[in-house]
Amino acid sequence: MNSNPPPPDLSGLDPAKLPIHIAIIMDGNGRWAKRRLLNRVKGHEKGADTVRTVVRTCRQIGIHFLTLYAFSTENWQRPKVEVSALMTLLKKYIVSEKNELHQQNIRINVLGEMESLPADVRTALNDIISLTRNNAAMTVNLALSYGGRAEIVKMVREIALEVQAGRLAPEAIDAGLVARHLYTGTMPDPDLLIRTSGEMRISNFLLWQIAYAEIFVTPTLWPDFDREEFLAILRQYQARERRFGKIPEASPPQ
Ligand code: IPE
Ligand code: IPE
Ligand code: MG
Repeated sequence: MNSNPPPPDLSGLDPAKLPIHIAIIMDGNGRWAKRRLLNRVKGHEKGADTVRTVVRTCRQIGIHFLTLYAFSTENWQRPKVEVSALMTLLKKYIVSEKNELHQQNIRINVLGEMESLPADVRTALNDIISLTRNNAAMTVNLALSYGGRAEIVKMVREIALEVQAGRLAPEAIDAGLVARHLYTGTMPDPDLLIRTSGEMRISNFLLWQIAYAEIFVTPTLWPDFDREEFLAILRQYQARERRFGKIPEASPPQ
């Protein structure tokens, strides 16, 4: 993050109706590379540039939470060379962006099984997490070794242990308690979920939290996704009516 980008074109965007939390399934790096007869890793490298652009744009327009699906529990089943290239890239990104993210008052957080990541990646992550822990302008959640089902299993185990220890009555289990035992804890649920590269599926992402997220799937491959398209999606999001199961024009749940 060297040069400062011009302020984004916010025409047509209502600052009062911006999503508080945006979640993104960053898909299509492999296909981007394949189309150019390049190694898949080149697609991941180019994808890292898009991450930079989207993080900057979110910070500039005042998004509070951004959750990026970077590596799923299922992605461990990819060839070893691709997994290790992704881990190297991740570490490189964290190290190179650390200072600017901190200067921008951005907090970095990880959702997922951090203990299964390579030791050097974990060290780099712990470093940026502790450096940025009191930053308040925006939180960026990196979903790493993340799986929605694994997250739900973790939550059930934690709650079961509380019940077993006699500290929690089963009747006291409610949606709020369940949410607090997920990786997202007390963060608000995503209002907007974007998936690039056209697949019409969730791929084990935030299964509980996206209950009422507005979903946008774009055919654009993640390395080609840019600020203009991102802002266009935000404008479409603002044009949607969120009903939360109520009748039109009713207000969201309190
Ligand atoms: C998304 O791009 C990045 C990760 C899943 C790590 P892909 O690598 O899934 O790209 P495609 O879907 O094969 O094009
Ligand atoms: C979802 O993409 C995971 C990430 C973007 C990190 P995948 O490429 O792994 O998902 P599938 O295999 O198309 O469902
Ligand atoms: Mg994919």
